[in-house]
Amino acid sequence: MRYLPLFFDLSKGPVILVGAGAEARAKLRILQAAGAAIRWHVLSRDDANNAYAKDVELRIGLPGADDFLGAVALVASAGRDIDEELAARSRAMNVPVNIVDRPDLSTFIFPSIVDRGDVVVAIGTGGASPVLARRLRETIEQLLPERIGEFAALMGRYRDRLHALRHRGFSTRQFWERVIDGPIGTLFLAGRSARAEAALILAIERAGLDAPKQGHVQIVGAGPGDPDLLTLKALHALQSADIVFTDDLVSPDILSRVRRDAEIVHVGKRKGQPGIGQEAINRRLVAEAKAGRKVVRLKGGDPFIFGRGGEEREALEEEGIAVTVVPGITAALGCAAEAGLPLTFRKEATRLSIVTANTAEGAEKIDWSGLTDRATTVAVYMGLTTASAVRDGLVAAGRDPRTPVAVLARGTRPDSHAITGTLSHLPALAAAAGQGPALIVVGDVVAHSRAWKEAVGHLEAAE
Ligand SMILES: C[S@@+](CC[C@H](N)C(=O)[O-])C[C@H]1O[C@@H](n2cnc3c(N)ncnc32)[C@H](O)[C@@H]1O
Repeated sequence: MRYLPLFFDLSKGPVILVGAGAEARAKLRILQAAGAAIRWHVLSRDDANNAYAKDVELRIGLPGADDFLGAVALVASAGRDIDEELAARSRAMNVPVNIVDRPDLSTFIFPSIVDRGDVVVAIGTGGASPVLARRLRETIEQLLPERIGEFAALMGRYRDRLHALRHRGFSTRQFWERVIDGPIGTLFLAGRSARAEAALILAIERAGLDAPKQGHVQIVGAGPGDPDLLTLKALHALQSADIVFTDDLVSPDILSRVRRDAEIVHVGKRKGQPGIGQEAINRRLVAEAKAGRKVVRLKGGDPFIFGRGGEEREALEEEGIAVTVVPGITAALGCAAEAGLPLTFRKEATRLSIVTANTAEGAEKIDWSGLTDRATTVAVYMGLTTASAVRDGLVAAGRDPRTPVAVLARGTRPDSHAITGTLSHLPALAAAAGQGPALIVVGDVVAHSRAWKEAVGHLEAAE
């Protein structure tokens, strides 16, 4: 490590900034964001006329010896000779100095910064590659929850109140860990700041008085398969979980994103084996949360679209367990995007119906009568093995057998396969699509899809 990252309190004295070019202005913005009192020296009246900036003391000419007294830092980009002179004078006056793009003249450098208010991350490459530092910053920006700075500020406001109760003999470190990792943190980062603050006040009042700690459950949508389609919130949940209960639909690529030490429990139906059943899943979720663990219930697609997330949420709430739901990209959206298939189309398709072909009464008993209008796109989930009943039901209800259809199998996964044709041929298309999971899309919009256009192209080439 060549440079030690330190956090400067710039309110303790003026920062001298010298220069009027783009580099100096960029530093001006960073210094202002950090609340610095800036004395900006420009070298000509013309520069001064163009140097409008709020809350800055503007001076024309180089800083004199008196200006260095009490300065917390000097930052300059004013031309080679002037920069060298300023660097020498700063060092002689023991004022930390940064000459832009001249680490050889500087006693400190500016890191790449992730700024979330009270939470600041500094990234440096020792000046070797500012571009790499910026890339790393972008990655960290995406990983940090949006409200993390406000969350830090909230905890800062209550630190003294908690510390005043330390005589009760509890560990403040463990207290804050529970706040950060538990329901209070989850609520706050989900935007429920008032509820989170109320829960924090209550927790502080009870600190050291009652021991039982309770975990919480996040019901998380994993999307259709491609791990890059996980939401940032889902990724945060996976990376902070103690235990993850997953369905078979969730791809191994996604499970590889789970925190390494977390326990992973498969509860769905797997390769013909029955799962443990909904009642048993609910019981285990409740038990793990009551034992104080951070539980993730991971589901393919979105938990509230044919995912039984609603039942699980109710079961948990009935037991008084804190539960939050993280939405996921449902199969219809993921598969359609991959296949270049717009689910609605101006004037042509003005309605989208999401239906399941897997009902307790059987696919033959489904009422398709509301789905016959040409302007309605129908996305059929769980219809691969009952494709004949889907076709027969729709046609009997009045949908044109020439309506374009697509069978989108294993959508967004490496072995995804899209096949298109018309409603009358749906069973043959489903058979040709191979293994599930697969989604059936019925509607004129299918003719806009990439797969349809490619199929037409092949036919024309064959003629
Ligand atoms: C029990 S439902 C779960 C749906 C999920 N909650 C969602 O929002 O996508 C399972 C059905 O979703 C559809 N499905 C899920 N993932 C899919 C994928 N990657 N490709 C195609 N269809 C998928 C299939 O119709 C499958 O039979």
